[in-house]
Amino acid sequence: MTSFSSISSLLTSPRLEGQVALRGWIYRTRSSGKIVFAVVRDATGIIQVTIKKGNLPDEQFEAALSASIESSVEIIGTMHQDGRAPGGYEVRASSLRVVGLALPFPITEYQSEELLLDNRHLWIRSREQTAVMKIKASVLAGAREWLTENDFVEVTPPILTQNACEGGVTLFKLKYFDREAFLSQSAQMYLESLIFSLEKVYSITPSFRAEKSRTPRHLTEYWHMELEEAWVDNEGNMRIQEDLVSAMVAKVLKERKDELELLKRDIEPLKAVQAPFKRLRYADMIKKLQNKGFDIEFGADLGAVEERAITEDEIAPVFVTNFPKECKAFYMKEDEDDPRTYKCADLLAPFGYGEVIGGSERETDLNKLLQRLEAQGIPEDPYRWYLDLRRFGSVPHSGFGLGVERIVKWMCNLEHIRDAVPYPRTVARVYP
Ligand code: 4AD
Ligand code: MG
Repeated sequence: MTSFSSISSLLTSPRLEGQVALRGWIYRTRSSGKIVFAVVRDATGIIQVTIKKGNLPDEQFEAALSASIESSVEIIGTMHQDGRAPGGYEVRASSLRVVGLALPFPITEYQSEELLLDNRHLWIRSREQTAVMKIKASVLAGAREWLTENDFVEVTPPILTQNACEGGVTLFKLKYFDREAFLSQSAQMYLESLIFSLEKVYSITPSFRAEKSRTPRHLTEYWHMELEEAWVDNEGNMRIQEDLVSAMVAKVLKERKDELELLKRDIEPLKAVQAPFKRLRYADMIKKLQNKGFDIEFGADLGAVEERAITEDEIAPVFVTNFPKECKAFYMKEDEDDPRTYKCADLLAPFGYGEVIGGSERETDLNKLLQRLEAQGIPEDPYRWYLDLRRFGSVPHSGFGLGVERIVKWMCNLEHIRDAVPYPRTVARVYP
């Protein structure tokens, strides 16, 4: 049996004696009658392969000539230094087998965004998409490492629910046998119920938002990393966020320099992302915006334009704290020092990337929760179980939700959030 080497291992420890075997897909190919220059890619990288008539059986040379882009191949050959080849080496083939011949690939160099999205199942093979997915994997791995080291327990909350955690407007409703149910917007309430036994919990689940907003940072289905911590106030919650985000960035810088470079992502600003992050009160931020000429008053929610104005000169993310109650959900804890506001914080990524985390200390006062539900006309019944959490051994606690694709978009410097996920779901698209 042939033992195949990965392309990156061939390039990092080249064996210039004896044979090497590799397999992958044709990334580029051109020929001049008697010689085929192919670039082959696998999961780890690309390498140049030259296939010369006479160096291998004729029928294999013919197969090499007809091996179209994205055909899968197995190659045996010898390695040689070549300054012009990507990675500095090439393989000269002594044997080639086409495993799966590809039809003419529908994606060529200059394609409309629509065509690429219709052919997403093929486009995700591109080197840029591959780099983004590897970076995303490291973002998640870095987070899980930090969470494990800090004694957080991973839990698995439900996706089918009857609770509107973030309000009714953006709920996906579905028929659940003879009842109505929703796709989860957030695991928060379930995580809150789990801190009473586990104290520090997290989950990474899909969240669903029926957002009509067609913006570069909204998906209707996204991956949500949520934490909930007993005995932690809003200040402690922010410390956890900045440490977690710093650990994610550090992991990506450690493991994914090549991918960041391929995406032409300047890594210098990422190196500056280290806790602690700046904290700015919402009220002060409004003043700052007014000084910049914005027509905005206390009580207004932040849009993309405002977030950009706040963070365009920042290198690291910034917390905006103490939002007015009318901007936020009913479960947040009132700040006694400024009862117009909640003890909450949004974390905004720098350079206008916008909100990547929303978090708060949770209201523990049962009567306040009941009053808010009533004032907002929200029926109490679906929240009976949630309100029970305040009746049986309630403790101060806090938590937050981080949008994984928002983080990836920022770290990869992507124009649109859809490229932070292999199969984007937006208002316009659920196919493929
Ligand atoms: O600010 P949000 O709505 O907060 C919550 O859902 C809380 N219940 C979380 C919690 O405390 N456990 O959403 C949290 C984060 C946002 O900061 C954003 O990063 C991301 O989720 N997010 C989206 N990402 C992509 N597309 C969307 N439509 C998103 N909506 C929110
Ligand atoms: Mg939010």
